[in-house]
Amino acid sequence: MDSIQVLPIAPPHFTLSAPMPSPAIAPVTDVSPSSAARSVAASKALFWDRIAPKYAADPIADMAGYEATLRRVQALLSPQHDVLEIGCGTGSTALRLAPFTRRLLATDVSPEMIVIAHQRLAGQPSPQLSFAVADAEAPVFGQGVYDVVLAFNVLHLASDLDQALKLAVQALRPGGLLISKTPCIAEMNPLIPYLAVPLMRAIGKAPHVLCFDEPRLQSAMAQQGMQIVCAERHGTRGKDIRAFIVARKPG
Ligand SMILES: C[S@@+](CC[C@H](N)C(=O)[O-])C[C@H]1O[C@@H](n2cnc3c(N)ncnc32)[C@H](O)[C@@H]1O
Repeated sequence: MDSIQVLPIAPPHFTLSAPMPSPAIAPVTDVSPSSAARSVAASKALFWDRIAPKYAADPIADMAGYEATLRRVQALLSPQHDVLEIGCGTGSTALRLAPFTRRLLATDVSPEMIVIAHQRLAGQPSPQLSFAVADAEAPVFGQGVYDVVLAFNVLHLASDLDQALKLAVQALRPGGLLISKTPCIAEMNPLIPYLAVPLMRAIGKAPHVLCFDEPRLQSAMAQQGMQIVCAERHGTRGKDIRAFIVARKPG
């Protein structure tokens, strides 16, 4: 396996001996994950590590919907923004969005996903972009250091939605945006979350998922003090259960 960056060890250009950009993006963390936290993260990564090569090779099912989301997010970003992505997978979206930011730190709990992300970055260098392994439910991102947190197709995978949202909100500066797109599993036929998913989990073919609808997700964001800016759906192929929500941390 390639050598990979695990937060909270800062990427080389963020080390204290190197000049810091101004104002500094600070992925250096204020809390080091304990060995217990590392082993929790490792167990969350197991499923994703196993499927990472297949995930990287699979085509995007709704390309028009994906492009619509990218355009929408791009319009919300600026070259002055320090951006954190949680659950970045193999980095395809980070590679598309990094040019519209000052810096984008894209993170994922799965080391294998980040290995592939690094390979993609090597083939498509992007000075704004770096990747690191990090659990979105561990306090490793620092407080008040990002203008935008991106969370695409990941909040439903948290063990604890409130914890994941709390840490994302903490990482934001006042006035910062949480931009998310999240499958709302409770909007599917109930046979899927309550029968098919448990069966697939039992044979290792599905990860743990949380079952919530969009009102529940919005209310979880509001409970963390976030103001909902907009809620949209960008799917172009039949029923779209993925809620695109932009929420602002009060300034
Ligand atoms: C469905 S994939 C989405 C990847 C990418 N964001 C996208 O939209 O294609 C979910 C990703 O979230 C990651 N993930 C799951 N739980 C996580 C956690 N607690 N912290 C960080 N990443 C997590 C997985 O490793 C996986 O790469």
